[in-house]
Amino acid sequence: MAQKIIIAIDGFSSCGKSTLAKELAAVLGYNYIDSGAMYRAITLYFLRNAVDVNDSGKILDALANIHLSFVFNEKTQKSDIYLNEENVEHMIRDMIVAEKVSEVAAIKEVRAFAVGQQKRMGKKKGIVMDGRDIGTVVFPDAELKIFMTADPEVRVKRRFTELYATNPNITLEEVKHNLEMRDYIDSNRAESPLRQADDAIVLNNSSLTREEQLEKVLEWVKDRTAVTA
Ligand code: DC
Repeated sequence: MAQKIIIAIDGFSSCGKSTLAKELAAVLGYNYIDSGAMYRAITLYFLRNAVDVNDSGKILDALANIHLSFVFNEKTQKSDIYLNEENVEHMIRDMIVAEKVSEVAAIKEVRAFAVGQQKRMGKKKGIVMDGRDIGTVVFPDAELKIFMTADPEVRVKRRFTELYATNPNITLEEVKHNLEMRDYIDSNRAESPLRQADDAIVLNNSSLTREEQLEKVLEWVKDRTAVTA
């Protein structure tokens, strides 16, 4: 049997990281962990409890009351995130959370909290995790690191289509502005900013179909899991 590895996928918002990660995990029988969902769930808790993001004492108190877990959903064939035993998988995709999440994800205490949990999830390998700092901070020794990119117009259109399904009032302009803002904050924050790991492979999927993309990456996985005699 092929050995199990860690696959780290990083990149800007809406490059299709989670689509690829989900498909890879399904084909390989790996766990898929959406690290962005963790920052989104923490943000939801902060919004609901009006946590002052400028007060590190209040932040630490809030984090002590947050329990995050992933539970496999048979219907969607992927894990849903639970915040203190409540399924918040849908709620965290809301624009209200999207507008605040980059600010919350830039907080040192929040990152330490999330990264600690993420590292533990990789102990047994056989995991695909996507995010912004997976190949650089969470799993610097991951056997396969992918840095995903896509042309900005392609990303805006993809994200718009996704959000429009549940919110027909959303505009292309709003989506474009949110993506640009998040890219800027994610790339320029002091704590583990988004950057490509030196040993990551760049994957620009602007003109690739999902099938082509998956095929390409499975080849990379094969190279790294081949058992040498
Ligand atoms: O992947 P996403 O759009 O759901 O991520 C939501 C936000 O969380 C994103 O704006 C940046 C932040 N994030 C992060 O800082 N580090 C990660 N590993 C994953 C997400």
